[in-house]
Amino acid sequence: MVRTAVTAEPQADELLHRLLATTEGQTDPYPLYHALRTLAPVHHSELDGMWYASGFSAARRILLDPCFGKAPRLTIRRHGVPEERVRMIERRPPRPSMITANPPEHARLRGAAKGAFLPTRIESLRSRVTSLVDESLDRLAALGTADVMAELAGPLPLAVISELLGVPEQDRTEFRRLVVAMVSSDDPHPPPEAVEQAEAASVQLEEYVLDLVSARRACPGDDVLSMLVEQHDGGTLAAAELTATVILLLAAGVFTTTNLIGNGLLALLHHPSQMGRLWGDPALVAPAVEEMLRYDTPIQLINRHVLSDVEVEGGARLEQGDTVVVLLGAANRDPTWFCEPDRFDVGRPDNGHLAFAWGTHFCLGARLARLEAQLVFSGLRERFTRLELAGEPVRRAGLALRGLETLPLRLEARSGPECRRRHSQNVV
Ligand code: HEM
Repeated sequence: MVRTAVTAEPQADELLHRLLATTEGQTDPYPLYHALRTLAPVHHSELDGMWYASGFSAARRILLDPCFGKAPRLTIRRHGVPEERVRMIERRPPRPSMITANPPEHARLRGAAKGAFLPTRIESLRSRVTSLVDESLDRLAALGTADVMAELAGPLPLAVISELLGVPEQDRTEFRRLVVAMVSSDDPHPPPEAVEQAEAASVQLEEYVLDLVSARRACPGDDVLSMLVEQHDGGTLAAAELTATVILLLAAGVFTTTNLIGNGLLALLHHPSQMGRLWGDPALVAPAVEEMLRYDTPIQLINRHVLSDVEVEGGARLEQGDTVVVLLGAANRDPTWFCEPDRFDVGRPDNGHLAFAWGTHFCLGARLARLEAQLVFSGLRERFTRLELAGEPVRRAGLALRGLETLPLRLEARSGPECRRRHSQNVV
């Protein structure tokens, strides 16, 4: 059956194969995105039966239109995702949280956690996040040469979310181990032992969250967990929803921000003139972070389920039950939306990227991620005169979560104590 006015071009499927199932796509997906978008901004693939949206206006429309929503179960049967990973994901019991819900359920689930991400609440974290950034920067300054992913980009978001949730200091090492083990099987080709460890970690993490919940119920604090427990006790959240929400906040909040910091640093290192501009002007920190989100988007793709038949850009007709993969990384490089999209410009005006999605599921943690990244880049430019690669960066496998495993850097610190702790005020 012909599904679409935009024909399922074999060329487009060949591009998709290179994008989703080869290292070429993982190394540099952007030329493939351009070629795919030029052929068909919305394409129905014969490889896996899914639709792929690579044009900005189609992607935004799909994220905003109520004809599209979430499937009751995570859809992972995408071309390039190995069968063992599909089975692993499908074995997991569904976790009922906002990210898998459609309106009106979605509003209740999101509403239960929303209080934790209000602007005033996030702003109140500024000085604590500044201290955590400073601690990492002190360590980097002392080391001189270090893997910035291990010393800064990895630990910082986990420390921040631990504080936000109220994970006690003494539990954080174990907590970190569990979170890292849980997501390590998200690689497209996880070794069997990583899959087993991830499953065990996921169970342990759930048990740990349940213990934390009991402790908070006995002794509430001023943290997000206490707030969620209150919602549960007030009847707004079921027990499974409470646990699922905590685990969602962990999974959504940690590796994404890590990837933003790593990808952003690498973009600066590859564009020394842009690093020079940023180092020379603190007012560029906020737009530079937006440009990092656009230029090398941490979450490259998300899925939507077609809830009722709908026609989109170019006459593509999608039927209820279809799945659409929204290629956020491709939309963010669309030349019909962004002027010279392959140029990394830390001062880019009107940067309305889709890195945090759009519409109903717009990232709840966007403000927190921005705060963390702005404080990191603000701190780096204040503390160090020069950053340079000290080895080859290693990219994480897979396209969906685009980030680095390691980023070895040589960092030249400014001399004098006055450079420390000024940056918390400089961020816009
Ligand atoms: C650079 C960092 C981040 C990026 C690029 C990012 C990106 C995204 C994207 C694309 C979505 C939409 C997912 C979908 O519709 O399927 C999303 C949703 C979400 N994000 Fe983030 N995120 C980041 C950081 C964070 C942080 C720090 C938190 C919280 C601690 C967070 C919490 C969430 C939650 C709870 C949702 C689900 C919202 C809903 O379903 O209503 N994110 N994020």
